Amino acid sequence: LAALPATALLGCSQDRTTAAPISTVDTLDFANQLRIPPLATSVVRDGIRLFELNVTGSSAEFLPGLSTPTLAYDDGRSAARYLGPTLRARRGERVRVRINNRLPETTTVHWHGMHLPATQDGGPHQAIPAGGEWAPEWLIDQPAATLWYHPHPHGQTERQVNQGLAGLFYVTDEASPELPSRYGIDDIPVILQDRRFEVTGRFDLGGRSVTGYVGDTILVNGTHNPHLPVSTERVRLRILNGSSARIYHLALSDDHEFTVVATDGGFLPRPARMRRLLLSPGERAEIVVELRPGERRVLRSLPWDLGMIAPLTDGSGGNDRLDLLQLRADPQLTTNPTVPHRLTTVSALSIAEVAERREIVLEGRTINGRPMELGRIDAVIAAGSTELWTVRNAHNQPHNFHVHGVSFQIVPGEASGPDPALGGKDTVLLGAEQTVTLAIRFPSFSDPLTPYMYHCHLLWHEDEGMMAQFTVVDADQVASAPRSLPRAH
Ligand code: C2O
Ligand code: CU
Repeated sequence: LAALPATALLGCSQDRTTAAPISTVDTLDFANQLRIPPLATSVVRDGIRLFELNVTGSSAEFLPGLSTPTLAYDDGRSAARYLGPTLRARRGERVRVRINNRLPETTTVHWHGMHLPATQDGGPHQAIPAGGEWAPEWLIDQPAATLWYHPHPHGQTERQVNQGLAGLFYVTDEASPELPSRYGIDDIPVILQDRRFEVTGRFDLGGRSVTGYVGDTILVNGTHNPHLPVSTERVRLRILNGSSARIYHLALSDDHEFTVVATDGGFLPRPARMRRLLLSPGERAEIVVELRPGERRVLRSLPWDLGMIAPLTDGSGGNDRLDLLQLRADPQLTTNPTVPHRLTTVSALSIAEVAERREIVLEGRTINGRPMELGRIDAVIAAGSTELWTVRNAHNQPHNFHVHGVSFQIVPGEASGPDPALGGKDTVLLGAEQTVTLAIRFPSFSDPLTPYMYHCHLLWHEDEGMMAQFTVVDADQVASAPRSLPRAH
């Protein structure tokens, strides 16, 4: 990748005649302060916490002097430029989010990682037409976790996410351990994305590697070239891989250790000291980093090896070494909570209670040999039951696997049961030809006519049809429940 100094980018802004991509990978000096998405405003009325989200077209300046057309969510209070506000609600609360689609096209809003009825899930069946409104409501009933929301209209997910539609949803609970938790001070959202820019400043959303869209410019919370001023001895980073296809192999400069405290579904039973962490699109990890006064540390991504026959080091940009974010400690740091030895108690899902075993094969752009069909139900599952899913990546490239409406546990080996020490997950990365077994407890909401999705979360693969649907019904209806929908939306 050619080095292009920041001044050259400024010069480019005058030239609107060509649309050649520009590369910014080698120009980082961390000059820009990391943006923190605002916390969404809400009111409690009749015992329900009400949020408002407008989906709008906007524009933002990511590169100096260049205006980039974007899509964004706003809460009606502050103007949105890119991404959306962070929603926060407590376990036990009922929430309702009124969504106004101000785009000239259909969208949906999916609550990734949320345990909720399929009708409120925001998948492709809950389309919000241009100018339309949708107000899902549900009871927050799951452990504290970093979840997120994003569009899910069938075939259009990658493009809408890449244009800027994504935000975080924090679930909090009373049982949470004492950890740094002051939003934007020592508890920091970190949404990792990669983009390419045309010289005009527009996103260049064309061009893909085998895994999908990869950009050569990293945006963190929509900030290019970012640093985070740190005023406390430790900082908790809630990291979301919000990219379409890029897999991050996270590390700190000088191989500094960090402490992983939570994953997709919430806290780990015990913190894990690590030096490397793979995070594929859709996955989250919360890490705590300790800093000394005045210290500077870079969060970066290192090349990975996921068993690919031809690793993505061909310049397609999917697997480079990249600097993501510089942490800049103040000369004096205030003290904040250390990480406790125990974070939560989770028991292993019981194998003895497994109601069904299924084999899921990821190959080409299909699941079990079939591309996504909105009118077809691929699996009917007994409400509240536990199943064992063996997911096999039959392909010579990585994919990942996401299930809506649940958190699952990973079963590390044939002889062992699910391991809760690995945390509750809703998305799991599979290297080339890799197999993983998941223990999944399904929701108790029965609805034979509204499916949940399971799919590859590399967004282009998902759009291309690497997705399937399941319904959850009362145990005595499993045999008789419909396998197709009367009307595909
Ligand atoms: Cu985050 Cu079906 O997706
Ligand atoms: Cu895939």
